[in-house]
Amino acid sequence: MQNLILIGFMGAGKTSVGNCLAQESGMTFVDTDERIVAEQGMEISAIFEKYGEPYFRDLETALLERMQNDTDHSVISVGGGMPVRERNRDLLRSLGCVVYLLASKETILGRVRNDGTRPMLSGENLETRVERLMREREALYREAAHLMIQTDGYSVPEVAQMIRLEARKFGY
Ligand code: S3P
Repeated sequence: MQNLILIGFMGAGKTSVGNCLAQESGMTFVDTDERIVAEQGMEISAIFEKYGEPYFRDLETALLERMQNDTDHSVISVGGGMPVRERNRDLLRSLGCVVYLLASKETILGRVRNDGTRPMLSGENLETRVERLMREREALYREAAHLMIQTDGYSVPEVAQMIRLEARKFGY
């Protein structure tokens, strides 16, 4: 399938870059979090609060399964935890070219610091939490990805352009 899928940690820029990339490439933009919120009629934080994280993870997997049949020629931005499940990594790769947006801990912290909408970042000290999750997920992101793009110091349109150039080498 000919999708471009953006993965990476919370605050790595998946949604902003995905929107820009889709606009510039004349592709449809899909954000898995937005689809889940629209389908459930609830914010992500409310889903976590009411049903717990495993329920949200099941919703993510079910959505990726449906996307195998109804989503093509799209730029897809996925929630930061999507690639953690092995099944999801397989599903992501079968959707198209998976691009890992890398950002440093400092960049991530600067972006998520004043954002209370991410349940994975509530609770313990933010920096400790981000550090731990980044460490736990790094290898999984790499395993899921066809391409990696370092985003620190680049603007959203610059990152979108880098993805276009790199993905072209893969026939996208
Ligand atoms: C999550 C990331 C969020 C959202 C949910 C869980 C995670 O998406 O899916 O809050 O586990 O990393 P963003 O990466 O778009 O913030």
